[in-house]
Amino acid sequence: MTAFTRRSIVAASAVAAAGLAPLPAAAQQANGAASVSLEEALRRRRSTRRFGTAEIPQEQLLRLLWAANGVNRKEGGGRTAPAWRGSKDIDIYVAREAGVHRYDPVAGTLEQVRGEDIRDKVSQTAYIQRAPAVLIYVSDRKRLVEAAGAESAGNEQALAIGAHVNAALISQNVYLFAAAEGLGTVLIGGSADRDATKAALSLGEGHSVVYIQPVGAPR
Ligand SMILES: Cc1cc2nc3c(=O)[nH]c(=O)nc-3n(C[C@H](O)[C@H](O)[C@H](O)COP(=O)(O)O)c2cc1C
Repeated sequence: MTAFTRRSIVAASAVAAAGLAPLPAAAQQANGAASVSLEEALRRRRSTRRFGTAEIPQEQLLRLLWAANGVNRKEGGGRTAPAWRGSKDIDIYVAREAGVHRYDPVAGTLEQVRGEDIRDKVSQTAYIQRAPAVLIYVSDRKRLVEAAGAESAGNEQALAIGAHVNAALISQNVYLFAAAEGLGTVLIGGSADRDATKAALSLGEGHSVVYIQPVGAPR
């Protein structure tokens, strides 16, 4: 069985398990990734809170992260997600069983920052702790303040809104990518343990955990 066929079966089972119609054959690209129209992805978008244990293949995870907040314009390093005043303040960390990596959107790579599993720290909720990957959206206050400019620099409410909106826009990109490729995801605010996550990542004072977002094949 080719890798393409195996991937197709895994994706088809995940789609069936989520109660979605299987993708038409024409929607399968040569690399095995499912490709659907934007309207179809929007039709499929939903929050998923039950995940299987299968790891997200690295190639698919990198494409998901590019969709989330990758560089889509060489000049100026523009991103797939808009950001308040172009602040680019959000870093995406990926917590998995094997450790934690930070996405470098310019290089399009994942850099390891922790060798241990911290998923039991990011939330007290069991399905989040067991999700194959938990994205952690971290805002860098320095970048946000620089982008905010003089008139907003001391405006804590504006800065907080900017960080949350920026992370939420990235999250929607992840929702749509997941919907298009038969993955499940949910944005997590209230059930996130921000202080414990910040401690587990050894983040400095100027960094805050805004949201987390588990991702994986639905169960
Ligand atoms: C800012 C924000 C925070 C959220 N926080 C949580 C959360 O802590 N726990 C959770 O289960 N869902 C959370 N959600 C997901 C919503 O509950 C979900 O989007 C809503 O119920 C609508 O369902 P749908 O996404 O399937 O359309 C959050 C969504 C947003 C936009």
